[in-house]
Amino acid sequence: MEISLKNQVAIITGASSGIGAGISKSLAESGATVVINYPFEVSKIAADAVLKTITDAGGKGITYMCDVSKEDQVVKMFQDVVAQFGTVDILINNAGIQKDAKFTEMTLDQWNAVIGVNLTGQFLCAREAIKEFLRRGIDETKSVAKGKIIHISSVHEIIPWAQHANYAASKGAIRMLMQTLAQEYAGEKIRVNSICPGAIQTPINTAAWDTPEVLNSLLSLIPYNRIGQPKDIGNLAVFLSSDASDYINGASIFIDGGMTTFESFSTGG
Ligand code: BGC
Repeated sequence: MEISLKNQVAIITGASSGIGAGISKSLAESGATVVINYPFEVSKIAADAVLKTITDAGGKGITYMCDVSKEDQVVKMFQDVVAQFGTVDILINNAGIQKDAKFTEMTLDQWNAVIGVNLTGQFLCAREAIKEFLRRGIDETKSVAKGKIIHISSVHEIIPWAQHANYAASKGAIRMLMQTLAQEYAGEKIRVNSICPGAIQTPINTAAWDTPEVLNSLLSLIPYNRIGQPKDIGNLAVFLSSDASDYINGASIFIDGGMTTFESFSTGG
């Protein structure tokens, strides 16, 4: 199966590092023009480095600063991308943060920050993307769908996570956001799905893999016995963005080395 995303424009939010950077590289390798979104000036150098890797390999893209939790900035990002490239074909709703705390010590700021980026950010970007898909209509030279949205959720959309109530709540809500959009816009030939990663080796979870002790304890949760890599997620994002997955809509796809099979039950309940 050969997959080409040639002539398609993809916005990847939170793409200056981690899973977002990995997805940007994979989409660009498949021919998409990528918009590498990053939130603040401090991430610009990292975003530029992701773009350089892509252009050095012959791919196309730009970097774009926008805080996805801010409505005016999201609206402007979509306007600017459409002005520059003509349209947007694929949205990878990836930007996500953790602000972990014991529940009784969790501040409203920690709660709001996580819900703002992880959930409100995905709402705002999805809304602007769907408006653009509807405006453009189908262009069969590129895809049989008007557009594709991929929400980056987490295994924590179904696994409760002590001391991460804000994060788990945001991911559980993404499932319903995704399924509702899939239901509401399937008739318009817009596909909406989620990727639910388990433990992927990125800056968000350094504390879970940066010493042999913590890595071993993490691996005890992963039947496949390795930590995931951004490329694992990138491969799936390419497939879900392409017509090869045209009949997949409203699905949460777990990509976690078996974490959601609950390894601790492998020796009996
Ligand atoms: C979190 C990581 C965590 C993984 C598995 C992800 O959604 O961002 O920090 O390692 O879930 O628990």
